Amino acid sequence: MCDIDRLHRLFWQLHHKDPLIVRAPGRINLIGEHTDYNSGYVLPAAIDKAVYVAISKRNDNKIYLHAEEYNENYIADIENLRQNKFHWSSYVLGIIDQLLKKKFSITGFNIVVDGDVPVGAGMAASAAIECATVFALNALFELNISMLDMVKIAQKAEQEFVGLQCGIMDMFTSMYGKKDHVICLDCRSFEYEYFPFKQDGIKIVLLDTSIKHSLASSEYNTRKKQCEEGVSLIQQHIPQVQSLRDATIEMLDKYVAQNKLIYNRCRYVIEEINRLLAACIDLQKNDIAAFGKKMFATHKGLSKMYEVSCNELDIMVDLIKHNKSVIGARMMGGGFGGCTINIVKEDAVEELIYDTREKYREKTGMNLNAYIASIEDGASLQKSPVRF
Ligand code: GLA
Repeated sequence: MCDIDRLHRLFWQLHHKDPLIVRAPGRINLIGEHTDYNSGYVLPAAIDKAVYVAISKRNDNKIYLHAEEYNENYIADIENLRQNKFHWSSYVLGIIDQLLKKKFSITGFNIVVDGDVPVGAGMAASAAIECATVFALNALFELNISMLDMVKIAQKAEQEFVGLQCGIMDMFTSMYGKKDHVICLDCRSFEYEYFPFKQDGIKIVLLDTSIKHSLASSEYNTRKKQCEEGVSLIQQHIPQVQSLRDATIEMLDKYVAQNKLIYNRCRYVIEEINRLLAACIDLQKNDIAAFGKKMFATHKGLSKMYEVSCNELDIMVDLIKHNKSVIGARMMGGGFGGCTINIVKEDAVEELIYDTREKYREKTGMNLNAYIASIEDGASLQKSPVRF
């Protein structure tokens, strides 16, 4: 948990000014993985791990950045933003790049980034930095940008400045999260509905493989292209199919079967979109057992058909899948590392973490970090000085 007063003091030591402070959370996703950029649905929630930015105006066009986690400073010039894809500063500078492209009037500022969203663990730390930054700049320079436009700006920053052709899920969740609710988001229309998710006697446990993923250098963008390839094969016969959201398994069987790899990628996505819709009905019926089974099915699809899992994620799911206290489990987020999301009976959580940690170490030689996630509100202003 980030201590806001400590962040305030740190900011004061660095810049001798009172900052405006914004919190933007990381996210979990219960089901609906790799469906957002296919115009499908997702079922995420904001969590108690968050990024905090403290920010104040400057009288010039410089941007003074400080990342507390790395104890690192970076100075940029608003008129000459340099792209440095794999550096943390890109998540802040990418937002400025978008604001300038959209002709918003901003000048230089000081920004300190802090927080506790583990980096590369699949909890969308980068989206949290982007959302915190755009939220803070919107308040600081009174830009009057709507929530949805801030989400779109954050997504574009990631796509254009960082180079990850991501969907909208992470940013939307960080902004629109609601305590004790999951968001059923239609990634085509941006319509959304909150479902209560506070189940007595169960916990959401994240088991981190310690394999740090960097989606920007992974096959994430390749997966997106493969889905588009599937759509274009179908489109040659049925032009009204605009995305895998409009496609069916029958269409795949007819027009994509000759390309096994593309077929498998698309099949996973179509099945996952349908699985999510069925899972929402499970939630409405309060049938958490049926919901959990679907999470296991998602993992299988992500691992075998979509091929975005990795050995360690598969081991983690295998280790717990026969445990009667685990209702559902699967890899979470973009994949290639990061953590699994597990729905676990509350009274078994401690033992499960202890056992799995031992077994995981035996099998991989690696450490397992475990987090119990609670569902919290989306981005918000934490502190606003009278004058800034
Ligand atoms: C990453 C992306 C999201 C989404 C997930 C997979 O987190 O940023 O847009 O595609 O992977 O569901």
